Amino acid sequence: MRAAGRCPGLLLLLAMGAWGLRFPQRHWPVPYRRFDYRPKTDPYCQARYTFCPTGSAVPVMKEKDVIEVYRLQAPVWEFKYGDLLGHLKIMHDAVGFKSALTGKNYTMEWYELFQLGNCTFPHLRPGMDAPFWCNQGAACFYEGIDDAHWKENGTLVLVTTISGAMFNEMAKWVKYDNETGIYYETWTVQASPDKKSTVWFDSYECSKFILRTYQKLADLGAVFNKVQTNYTSIILFSGEPIYLGNETSIFGPQGNKTLAAAIRDFYYPFKPHKTVREFFVDLLKIIDRVILNHEFYLFYNLEYWFLPMKFPYLKIIYEEVPLPVGSKTSVGV
Ligand SMILES: *[C@@H]1O[C@H](CO)[C@@H](O)[C@H](O)[C@H]1NC(C)=O
Ligand SMILES: *[C@@H]1O[C@H](CO)[C@@H](O)[C@H](O)[C@H]1NC(C)=O
Ligand SMILES: *[C@@H]1O[C@H](CO)[C@@H](O)[C@H](O)[C@H]1NC(C)=O
Ligand SMILES: *[C@@H]1O[C@H](CO)[C@@H](O)[C@H](O)[C@H]1NC(C)=O
Ligand SMILES: *[C@@H]1O[C@H](CO)[C@@H](O)[C@H](O)[C@H]1NC(C)=O
Ligand SMILES: *[C@@H]1O[C@H](CO)[C@@H](O)[C@H](O)[C@H]1NC(C)=O
Ligand SMILES: *[C@@H]1O[C@H](CO)[C@@H](O)[C@H](O)[C@H]1NC(C)=O
Repeated sequence: MRAAGRCPGLLLLLAMGAWGLRFPQRHWPVPYRRFDYRPKTDPYCQARYTFCPTGSAVPVMKEKDVIEVYRLQAPVWEFKYGDLLGHLKIMHDAVGFKSALTGKNYTMEWYELFQLGNCTFPHLRPGMDAPFWCNQGAACFYEGIDDAHWKENGTLVLVTTISGAMFNEMAKWVKYDNETGIYYETWTVQASPDKKSTVWFDSYECSKFILRTYQKLADLGAVFNKVQTNYTSIILFSGEPIYLGNETSIFGPQGNKTLAAAIRDFYYPFKPHKTVREFFVDLLKIIDRVILNHEFYLFYNLEYWFLPMKFPYLKIIYEEVPLPVGSKTSVGV
């Protein structure tokens, strides 16, 4: 009180400073966090289907080799049993390479270590307060392109031709990208369906890896053919997200027990699913909850956020993201 009497301006300034610390100015979208290295996965996380079973190291190409680059896209196999889901256009993206010198071809993709369900929702384990996530994703490189798989219900199309030297540069970048971008993020979160709407969070999944790869190739000088390239996004719509904290700050001894319980409650209907049907029945339940209560708890960069959900809540879109224009090639002529 006495301090306030003597120096109200300073007090106000201090108060504003404290307010600023509590509610720092956010920059949207929240940048995807890169890590120094990839931690070992917890033994609790057991893949039903081995990640990257035929994976191999990225080969070093002869510098003068000529390498064809293919856009590969097919419906997500986890979903392929539902006709309805085909209509949703939930697609998986990959990129193919073919060496002119050796005639060998290769596929490169980025996907979940423990499948989409595990990357999207956590496990609630007995005796553990915090939801437990098996949400790593990684790049997989292997010899061969399964033409039939991509062509039959999807796409296999030549997008550019690069040199062996460019391929080798790309391979270095893939190594870096794979070691530092570790966690799969299913959702894009934005303020409205409007094209110019604020994006609060960007997803980080298979198609983003392909987009980054194309961009890297463009930066290295690749010139892309004129091909329409559409990708799937799963979008949530919400008002400005509210930062809640990380596992320790929410579920640790200092945590807010009410908030911890609310988060666990929210994820309960998303317990691991044995069948695709079960997954969708529960997905409908949560959509109901999200729409009735306008709430969603998002886990992003290993941190929790509250999303004040709003109409139209969730959308799956299949939209064009054009092939990049190279920084080296766009100049001159
Ligand atoms: C998801 O993770 C759980 C826990 O490790 C595991 O039992 C299950 O097989 C995983 N699901 C898939 C489809 O890999
Ligand atoms: C990416 O990292 C995963 C996990 O460490 C590894 O299994 C995979 O082979 C790596 N992919 C590439 C293309 O190096
Ligand atoms: C990749 O190689 C396999 C095996 O030689 C061949 O069947 C397939 O047609 C090739 N695909 C492309 C796109 O080059
Ligand atoms: C293509 O779609 C049809 C009908 O949904 C399905 O029976 C077939 O197995 C799919 N092909 C591939 C290669 O996934
Ligand atoms: C979790 O948040 C607390 C408080 O903001 C911070 O001190 C701590 O370093 C964070 N822990 C991790 C693992 O990021
Ligand atoms: C704890 O969390 C609940 C639910 O988010 C919130 O209403 C309440 O104000 C929080 N309590 C404290 C002391 O921060
Ligand atoms: C691809 O995206 C464009 C523009 O975003 C859209 O007009 C078109 O309908 C999409 N194609 C398909 C097959 O959905």
